[in-house]
Amino acid sequence: MPKFEKHIFICTNQRPEGHAKGSCNPSGEGQLHQLFKAGVAKRGLKGKVRANKSGCLDQCEHGPTVVVYPDAVWYGGVTPADVDEILDSHIVGNQPVERLIIPDSCLNAETCPHKPRR
Ligand code: FES
Ligand SMILES: [Zn+2]
Repeated sequence: MPKFEKHIFICTNQRPEGHAKGSCNPSGEGQLHQLFKAGVAKRGLKGKVRANKSGCLDQCEHGPTVVVYPDAVWYGGVTPADVDEILDSHIVGNQPVERLIIPDSCLNAETCPHKPRR
């Protein structure tokens, strides 16, 4: 079997309501992961692209967080309405969705304009 060409990791970490860091999956339902998984299947990409649930990706203040490897493109504030665009533009078309990208200056930074969460 060939290797997966892309992995989409979707943070499904849930924290109690009102937590200072926020939570990528406040309802606990993992809806984003379900949508990515279904969207991969719908596009006939099963076996080529894998949408995996992830624990906290440590970018909580920018969440809901999704990362695509091997591209190392990090998305923040992802909503269900963004899933088709990420799949069509980035996963199929190799054009990352710029407006959702977490800037490199925010990734793993001690502080950034979004920390602490506003
Ligand atoms: S809770 Fe999603 S990145 Fe931390
Ligand atoms: Zn930031």
